Amino acid sequence: MSESFHDNAVEEIKSRCNIVDVIGQVVSLKKMGNNFKGVCPFHNEKTPSFVVSEPKQIFTCFGCGATGDVFEFVKRYYNLDFPSAVERLAKEYQVDYSNHFHDDGKKELYYQINREAATFFYKAFTQTQNEGLSYMRNRGMEPETLKRFGIGYADEQWDSLYKHFMSKNVDVKILIELGLISESKGKYYDKFRNRVMFPIINTRGKVIGFGGRILGEGSPKYLNSQESAVFMKKNNLYGLNISRQEISKENYTILVEGYMDVISLYQSGIRNVAASLGTALTENQAKMLRRYSKNVVLSYDADNAGRAAALRGIEVLRKEGCKAKVLHISDGKDPDEFVRKKGKDAFKSLIQQSLGYVDYKIENLKNRYNLDSYEESIEFLKETAVVLRELGPVEADVYIKKLANEIKISENAIRLEINGNNTQVEPITTPPLSKYGESDRKAQQDFSMSISLIEKNLIKLMILDYKYYEIISNYERVFKTDYAKNIWKAITELYEENEVDEKEIDLKKLQDGLEIAEVSILTDIIDNVQLADKEEQVLMECINKFEWEELTEKENSLLTRLSMADEEENQETIKVLTEELMELQRKKLGGDK
Ligand code: UTP
Ligand code: MN
Repeated sequence: MSESFHDNAVEEIKSRCNIVDVIGQVVSLKKMGNNFKGVCPFHNEKTPSFVVSEPKQIFTCFGCGATGDVFEFVKRYYNLDFPSAVERLAKEYQVDYSNHFHDDGKKELYYQINREAATFFYKAFTQTQNEGLSYMRNRGMEPETLKRFGIGYADEQWDSLYKHFMSKNVDVKILIELGLISESKGKYYDKFRNRVMFPIINTRGKVIGFGGRILGEGSPKYLNSQESAVFMKKNNLYGLNISRQEISKENYTILVEGYMDVISLYQSGIRNVAASLGTALTENQAKMLRRYSKNVVLSYDADNAGRAAALRGIEVLRKEGCKAKVLHISDGKDPDEFVRKKGKDAFKSLIQQSLGYVDYKIENLKNRYNLDSYEESIEFLKETAVVLRELGPVEADVYIKKLANEIKISENAIRLEINGNNTQVEPITTPPLSKYGESDRKAQQDFSMSISLIEKNLIKLMILDYKYYEIISNYERVFKTDYAKNIWKAITELYEENEVDEKEIDLKKLQDGLEIAEVSILTDIIDNVQLADKEEQVLMECINKFEWEELTEKENSLLTRLSMADEEENQETIKVLTEELMELQRKKLGGDK
């Protein structure tokens, strides 16, 4: 089975089927919050501990530890191997899969022909004096590097490759389909002429296509194989066959635009590098990278096209769950030029300075506006707000503080810009702080600092709507500081004494029951915590974050206790603790962090 088709079928199935439906056919599932719960089909149990996550498309059993995606479930439940599980789902979801089986013989032949062509170009490059070799040597490439990448040479004759294949009785139709040979007026000629040849090899070592660079000036500068049964640009990355181990080891990929960038960086000793084959980065390419590491440093050309490609690339990567950064080439037009001029260490320091998603987007906006101008600052802020709106409240907060400092606009104004003027909170009157003297203004800030952002958000939500209060009332333990605890208590009392049909908070009354410090915190929360109509989202984020932190805390304490236990004396305890730890880690996996 060929990997790309196989992967295609898997991806296609994943995009069409919902794990909840597949499991729901054989296990009775009940919706519980974000997840579905049922009795585990893989072990005997009475109380359900089998959970299916719809957003994550995975299942986990907290009883027996079974876990995995939809393919894993089908494999286990129907007792199938992986290809049969794929086939079964492919049938059910009408994904064209069986055809690809029959393609296999044909594809194997195509790979062989491509490999034969690569060998032909390689021999021409290494065994005789040729312009290809001198061109690459002039560009500073060492023989060892050239060999590693299997670089070849296509001479300027019009039929060298054609003749070679004819002597081997290869069907010319296939050569045409692979984009090696062209036909015109009944005559056949070589597609690649007078070029340095870069074989494109997939991660299974199959030659799937070629890139050919013209010697010197000429157009097109790079000629790439056309798409064929074995070559789909959007599913492959150049260099990954050589660099993937290094990518896993370094735990990040440097993603570049061109063939020469890959080879040049490789030669300099930077080997965790791949290129997106001249096209804009695709979803599938991002998925591929994600397999080796979720960290990607985009290192595109220093020109506008490169910048635009980086801006698009960073979105694609983010969507696929990668953590992307963007590197700026400060000298020369591309990574190849830079590293040849400045060397490996200088490039490494560019990596150090690369910017993350938000910083990069803000940096780009900064370049477009003159921040000394008041009006342009406002425009800048409006566009920045769009970026920050995508973030959770905690992450956004960090950037708001930073921005306020940089562009001399108050944090509050920035928050307002982000959240718009559409917050439904009624302005409330609080006892004027001046009553307590000017020094209390500072005190208010200090008090407010002492309670966490999660606490603040949840308090705001509880005041806003009884329905949020009902959920949050299960999480009393979130409130850790005394101030927050007291505010929580006062809100609870007010809601409890209200009739069922008038569950609203009278802010005056609420303040009456609080100490001065607490009133001042409350005022700050009402004035400054903006939820931007994203109440539900903020609530989920806060609760998830809290639960995650709680689990992590427990995990750490278990780890500490385990590290203290004596292997001989506490065998039983170690067993119990280890099981507890595994359970906990499973929960962390299953939960929605
Ligand atoms: P560049 O024009 O920046 O090429 O295109 P480069 O790698 O710097 O070329 P050198 O250094 O002059 O040899 C970047 C990439 O875009 C694709 C290729 O993958 C190239 O490496 N490209 C460019 C094409 O596919 N066709 C072209 O005509 C030009
Ligand atoms: Mn270049």
